Amino acid sequence: MRVVILGSGRGSNAEAILQAQAAGRLGAARVVQIYSDKPDAGILALGPRFGVPAAFIDPAPFKTKLEGPGEDRFVAAIEAARPDLVVLAGFMRVLKPKFLGAFAGKIINLHPSLLPAFPGLDGIGQAFRAGVKVTGCTVHDVTLEVDAGKIIEQAQVPIEPADTIETLTAKVHAAEHGLLPSVIARLSQESK
Ligand code: GAR
Repeated sequence: MRVVILGSGRGSNAEAILQAQAAGRLGAARVVQIYSDKPDAGILALGPRFGVPAAFIDPAPFKTKLEGPGEDRFVAAIEAARPDLVVLAGFMRVLKPKFLGAFAGKIINLHPSLLPAFPGLDGIGQAFRAGVKVTGCTVHDVTLEVDAGKIIEQAQVPIEPADTIETLTAKVHAAEHGLLPSVIARLSQESK
């Protein structure tokens, strides 16, 4: 199963996926390409470290969505990588019909809350401020409606009275680093 990872940030989840692959824990999945919409994103530095091609693609002209010429560039580049699965690992742009149609049924996203609770930006902060006792992370199918596609799997993180936004953020990230590689491994076994 050929996997393309898209990310805008640090890339800690992409790193967890690549470490799982290196340790033989990614089933029949293999990361073939990393793309970012930010030229200086940490995720791009993983390419040379793990021997996977990694590149910036200009997302212009929009700031928060991928549409128009930037969308065309992403679709063409990803199609050239012939993915069976496109993994959004901290890719902070709203996807539009052309992209979704090009990779229909093959796009999954990681979100840092127990969806349908706390969709959108800052899922961890939203849960912390709401005072819920349990939050977590979700891997779900990507559809036109943001953070609303079918839930594939979730991991829970209890919020303790002593937690701060910093400790909670670290716990949710740790849960994500376990969840996302295990979902990819499972999907790769099911698709065989
Ligand atoms: C992750 O916490 C992921 O859940 C979140 O961005 C972070 C990326 O971290 N995604 C969203 O909020 C999507 N709405 P990383 O770059 O270290 O993997």
